[in-house]
Amino acid sequence: MEILRIPRIMQETSKRLIQQGKSIGFVPTMGALHNGHLSLLKRARDENAVVVASIFVNPLQFGANEDLNKYPRDLEGDIEKLKAEQTNILFLPDAKSLYPDTFQTYVSVSELSEKLCGAFRPGHFRGVTTVVNKLFNIVKPHRAYFGQKDYQQFVIIKKMVADLNMDIEVIACSTIRENDGVAMSSRNIYLSPDERKAAEIINKCLLFASQSLQSGESNLSAIKQRMSDMLKGEPLVSEVQYAGIYDPDSLDELKEIKRQNLLAIALKIGNTRLIDNMLVDIL
Ligand code: PAF
Repeated sequence: MEILRIPRIMQETSKRLIQQGKSIGFVPTMGALHNGHLSLLKRARDENAVVVASIFVNPLQFGANEDLNKYPRDLEGDIEKLKAEQTNILFLPDAKSLYPDTFQTYVSVSELSEKLCGAFRPGHFRGVTTVVNKLFNIVKPHRAYFGQKDYQQFVIIKKMVADLNMDIEVIACSTIRENDGVAMSSRNIYLSPDERKAAEIINKCLLFASQSLQSGESNLSAIKQRMSDMLKGEPLVSEVQYAGIYDPDSLDELKEIKRQNLLAIALKIGNTRLIDNMLVDIL
């Protein structure tokens, strides 16, 4: 695996690969890789001649009181995992090379970025779309892979790619869960054993709502109320930011059930913010 740190060298490498007719699959990450990331790398490996991963903890997507400084980092472990997944290139830029002092251009998907997590993390998605835009321009992928756990991020990036006529296929891969149903996330490491156990309530709540929809329950406000009661009933849940049933395209709260429905939850256990979601198809 080659490790490239300088944006211009990554860009020239990608141009050369494209001239050679090779397809590039790209997995952007912030490191602290877990099995969720590895599933994206496997899919990229299956579908492309060359797999590029990036590791960059993007300061622009963290709010002033968020966890930028304590975000988990494990470069050595990540490199081993990337090699085991036969990643061809790791793009490993530093903050100065992506955001020099003169940097002043931002990309924002206006409406979608204000909803759900956007209401609780002002500026977060502008940070994500700005860095992903830059990474796309540098890595020049044919396909880019994102986890469905961050469903809103996936929808926003897809919208950016469509609105800006970027010739990139944006692919969402299923959420990978631990045996107890908790979605894999780099932030799970912050949880104490008791908090980790309490996190099981999130998937239980999603499964309850999914089964309710699938068994024909059409009273969405009753399901939403029950979701909220379940989450608030867990003593270690310190704040429920949202929990409900949304339109998977607009991310607006649904009044009536659709063919495809998004269940989404964001909450805090202690000081750790966790999100999870599930798409439910009604046949
Ligand atoms: O999902 C993430 O890890 C990040 O938001 C991303 C897409 C790598 C951008 O920094």
